[in-house]
Amino acid sequence: MLLTKEAFGKDFIWGVSTAAYQIEGAHNLDGKGPSVWDTFVQKRNKIFRNHTGNIACDHYNRYIDDLHLMHSMNIRNYRFSVSWSRILPEGTGRINQSGIDFYNKLIDLSLELGITPWITLYHWDLPHSLEIKGGWTNRDVKDWFGDYVAICVKSFGDRVKNWMVLNEPTVFSAAGYFFGVHAPGRKSIEGFLAAAHHAALAQAHGARVIKALQPESNVGTTFSCSHVEPYTNREKDIKAAKKADLLLNRLFIEPLLGMGYPVNEIKTLRRIEKYIKQNDEQDLKFDMDFIGIQNYTREIIRYAMFVPFLQAKIVNAKDRKVEMTAMEWEVYPESIYHILKKFQAYENIPPLIITENGAAFSDTLQNNVVHDPKRLQYIQNILQQVLRAKQEGVNVNGYFVWTFLDNFEWAEGYHPRFGLVHVDFQTQQRTVKASGHWYADFIK
Ligand code: BGC
Repeated sequence: MLLTKEAFGKDFIWGVSTAAYQIEGAHNLDGKGPSVWDTFVQKRNKIFRNHTGNIACDHYNRYIDDLHLMHSMNIRNYRFSVSWSRILPEGTGRINQSGIDFYNKLIDLSLELGITPWITLYHWDLPHSLEIKGGWTNRDVKDWFGDYVAICVKSFGDRVKNWMVLNEPTVFSAAGYFFGVHAPGRKSIEGFLAAAHHAALAQAHGARVIKALQPESNVGTTFSCSHVEPYTNREKDIKAAKKADLLLNRLFIEPLLGMGYPVNEIKTLRRIEKYIKQNDEQDLKFDMDFIGIQNYTREIIRYAMFVPFLQAKIVNAKDRKVEMTAMEWEVYPESIYHILKKFQAYENIPPLIITENGAAFSDTLQNNVVHDPKRLQYIQNILQQVLRAKQEGVNVNGYFVWTFLDNFEWAEGYHPRFGLVHVDFQTQQRTVKASGHWYADFIK
């Protein structure tokens, strides 16, 4: 299959994605309140070499140059997130006008340059004041979130039409409340179940708030997904893989589609029912305009007797001795094809957009050039698989590279570089990588 932009159709959306905490910096500037990530990074040994997002790419101060660079790379769709605690320093109540002003400037300049903004309303940076009240484990978070969403739509909705409610609820509820490796660093099954249910409620509620204020909006939400395969054909491994698939790929899309939680295969998950109140089942459902698919790799799963709740574990790419990225994730482009087919198979599934995909490698800057053939190959192979799915009838309408700039990669700090643009974190100098030049040319 010849890989050309035209093969995807003239309405296919090409873009790049970022997230506020990973690039903005200016963590306490102009009235911004702390988020759970601002407090989490201050704890010792939570983040690789105790890195923080305090400065990150300093995008808050450099957005003008960054948007011009994006424009020069022919990028015409930009997915970024709004920092909740920049808008509402305490999470609720008092509005910080400087926060609104920043995003107004960002949106206005994007539009001036012909770049369409796609806003993610929540990319993991819950205001710290709300975490003190229980964060995602407190059912009130649904209303706190709804109020914040309404402020964003009223402030930016005259110019912004494309919204994503949540970024990857599976990741922020599991990594943040069960494994404790992401903010807020809590570790309990009950915390996870409560957070998951409230995130699922907020996902539909946020979308309803947007539609009520802006009926012509294009509303979606995003899911992390990985194609799952059993390690062997033994029945135990197959069963373990099914459980992992449920958690990684089905937990949030199924209630959204009105199918309820897929709790039957994992006994512990049934405990989520404790948090479900009257009418919640209907409230979890919402007809989105699109679903954001975020895929990076596949997972191989085997039975593991001693793993609590699941009796399943991931067989690492490293142990399997397969090609990996700097995140130690297997390079497996077919994963995105399988995921697209899987989501398309749901009845009443709205159009799909790949709102994140990319790869981290240890890039180096030499004589002002970053030669990153592995990333280039990765993106090309992924696009081949997206095209394959599209040609087989999957309704996939867009692709956003994760990510525009090398940035703060959560618990991994600045070590893995995902950007199409290299950032020197000492000088903040930006250098378009070879993959970035290729993408610019491809989407021209
Ligand atoms: C997240 C990004 C993250 C990327 C790479 C996604 O799970 O949405 O914030 O940087 O994956 O790990």
